[in-house]
Parts: sequence; structure tokens; C-alpha cells
Amino acid sequence: MNISVAGTGYVGLVAGVCFAEVGHTVTCVDVDEEKVKLMESGVSPIYEADLEELMQKNYAAGRLHYTTDYKSAYKNSDAIFIGVGTPEQPDGSANLSYIAAVARQIAETVERDCVVVVKSTVPIGTNDKVEQFIQDFLVRDVRIEVASNPEFLAQGTAVRDTLRAARIIIGTESEYAEKVLKEIYEPFGLPIVSVNRRSAEMIKYASNDFLALKISYMNDIANLCELSGANIEDVAKGMSFDERIGGKFLNAGIGYGGSCFPKDTKALQYLARQYGYELRTVTAAVDVNKEQKTRLFQKANDRFITFNRLKVAVLGLTFKPGTDDLREAPSLDNVALLLERGADIYAYDPVGAENFKQKYPEGENLNGTITYVSSPEEALDGANVCFIFTEWPQIRSVAPRVYQETMRTPIVYDGRNLYDLKEMKRAGVDYYSIGR
Ligand code: UDX
Repeated sequence: MNISVAGTGYVGLVAGVCFAEVGHTVTCVDVDEEKVKLMESGVSPIYEADLEELMQKNYAAGRLHYTTDYKSAYKNSDAIFIGVGTPEQPDGSANLSYIAAVARQIAETVERDCVVVVKSTVPIGTNDKVEQFIQDFLVRDVRIEVASNPEFLAQGTAVRDTLRAARIIIGTESEYAEKVLKEIYEPFGLPIVSVNRRSAEMIKYASNDFLALKISYMNDIANLCELSGANIEDVAKGMSFDERIGGKFLNAGIGYGGSCFPKDTKALQYLARQYGYELRTVTAAVDVNKEQKTRLFQKANDRFITFNRLKVAVLGLTFKPGTDDLREAPSLDNVALLLERGADIYAYDPVGAENFKQKYPEGENLNGTITYVSSPEEALDGANVCFIFTEWPQIRSVAPRVYQETMRTPIVYDGRNLYDLKEMKRAGVDYYSIGR
């Protein structure tokens, strides 16, 4: 099939590359000329395992193209996937202006029947609006149908999550659109769930918000474990054997971040309120997460009289390992609080430092300073206190004794529960983690 994909962020680029990988002819469209050139030269604009290799392979095979020329791309496609962003607006609603811009371009350029597939996460009813919008602006006498096909990939494992997705959700209102999408996904050999468009849109939000709720629930229980003398890891292990609960996403920590959970919980809250309904469970997940992000800092703040001129090692900046993405990363909230209080931060992250520098350049920031270093040991050298925000393997592999031997005072606040309590105690580290 001839496929175009609008937008080359996480959703669009990964989808385009994977469609090419299973044999379709794909053109990825982006407005950014520099980005297109970069991709043509075989370089991925995002840090994602396996992506670059598949980009190069499928580009060389002539199945994958990149362009800014949306007219030539769209006019001859069997299907056009929309994978542009739907960022959060100040009121929590999703900004649909990028989707609308692409829909209009499609309406003005298509020259044959095709299916427009909305892959971006969009509020319930958006696919109906996109279809109406395209009809309003349609220039030629062709049949355009809109289908919903939400994306469930997680950053860091995006290619694997797409090629081996747990399920493909297809939301359509017509047999024609359903047939085209089933043909596109047939080579993947994955379970396909066909529903109507509004249900497909809801499946995406309901899934993400459920996972966010699961994490916030475990963080809530973790906080109670701390107060009551239980250990959240043992509790999670005990819970995980119940298949109705499942063993994944039970890790308590410093709160969820990233480009999806924070945005999608707020977007569903907003949508519910528009219907005059309050989603109390999702509201609770959002509230717990907000507090969770700075709980460790509050603990440390209660212990130290001041952070002024203290050397603080920060290990991990990204919202999770395997990505250079900092969106809604707990490190951002914590570093801001530390800098406000005059800390001298030595920060280590294997890939996220360059992005972090955009917000906090090397040197003086607020009342403190920040220095970026290239190993955990360098960050820990002579430090008064250490905060762990991301569970990168490079950080996980730092032995307990290294904290004791390298830091001026081995005091560690670990937001990811990387260490065994007894081992840290044995190594002489004053160690604080989550829920244990
Ligand atoms: C998520 C969903 O997993 C994916 O299906 C959806 O399409 C987009 O949103 P992503 O944000 O990339 O993907 O990462 P994910 O691995 O889900 O982690 C999100 C956040 O939750 C991270 O900050 C992570 O540290 C946190 N998390 C995850 C926990 O705190 N505990 C857990 O047990 C799991």
C-alpha cells in the first residue's frame, strides 16, 4: 500500500518506519526542512532504540521517503496517517490546531479516494470533526473517510512496541475504511480490535489513564507503607501473582512523567468536565502524582537546614531510561527547588543532559549552580547529598560502596528504589527510598 504519514515525532516517524519495515511504501511528511534532510541522511531526530537502523535499511530499500512536499505525498496515497502532536493547553485541553492544519492540507490536495487515519491521541469526537472539516475543504470529487487508530507505544521501546503491539485498535464507521486498515496491518500478524471511532478514541485515554492511576495507586500505598512499616516492593510482589492485578506498572517511585500520562489524564478530566462529569479516580491519580514528584525533596529538606552551597549529586534527568525526553520529568521540579535554595548541582544523565541544558545552562541558575558531568562517580565526588531520579542502567550499576567512598557525606535519596536496603546499610550509606 501507498502510505503517507504526517508528522515525524515519536508517533509518526515510528509508525512510518514500521509500515515500511513490513513492506508498505511510505512517505513521511514534516514541515521542518532540516529535519527532513537529517532523516534522509539516515539520522533519527529522536533517541529511540533500533529506529535509526530501520530508517537506514528501509530508506536504502526505497520503501521509505521523507519530504516537506505534502502535496505530492498526499495526492496519491491509499491512506494518510496523522501523527502530529496534541499538546496540553493551559486549561488541560488538547491543542488540535496541528491536526486541523494537516486535515486542511489533505482536503486541498488528495486526488483519489483514501482513508485518513488519526493516530495522534485526540479527545472523543475529534475524528468526527476531522471528517467534517475535510469535507468542508475538499477540493476534488473523491471519497475520504476518517478512521481512528490510536498508538500505544512507549518511549525507549517504540519500535518493538509497534512491531509487536499487544493489539491494534481500529475505529471506523465504514467497511471501506476498516478494510484498508486491516490490509495495512495484516503483515504485522497482531490481534485487531475493530470498534467505532469514539470507542477507539476512548480506548486510548482509558488505557493511559488506567496505567497512570495504577502508578499513583502504588505510590499512595507506598506512602502508607512508609508510615506503617510495610515494604512496598514486597507488597507489589505479593499483589503481582494475582492475574486480575497483573505484575506490570506496580513500581512505586517519584511519580510518572513523559509526554502521555500527564497530558492524557488532564485531557480526559477536561473532557469529562465538559460533559458535566467529574472523573474522581483520574483526579486522584493526578493529585497523588503532583505531590509524589517532590516528596523526596521534602524529606531531604526536612533534614538539611539549608541546601545553600551544598554539593548535590543528581543522577538521572530524563522521565525514564531509554529516552532523552524531559517532558514532565520529576527531575525538573526537584532541580528547580534545589537551585532556588542555593544548591550546587552536579548532574549526570547518559543522554538527557543536552536537553536539560536548554532549560538550565551550565553555571549559575536561580540561587545555585549546575554542572553537567559524564559519569555518576564524577557527580558523587565530594557530594553532600545525592538524588536519584532515573533508573538508567549506568546509575543502577553504581555499587553501594561507591557512595560511601566517593561522597563527602553518603546521604542518598533514591526516587527509583534501585538498591537493597540492607546492602546500603552495610555499605554505610544513609539511604532513603520510596515506600520502604
Ligand atoms: C506511556 C504508555 O506506556 C504508552 O502505552 C503510551 O502510548 C504513552 O504513554 P511512556 O510515557 O513512553 O508510555 O512511558 P512508560 O514506560 O509508560 O512510563 C511513563 C511514566 O511512568 C515514567 O515516568 C515511568 O517512570 C513511570 N512509571 C512506569 C512508574 O513510575 N512506575 C511504573 O511501574 C511504570
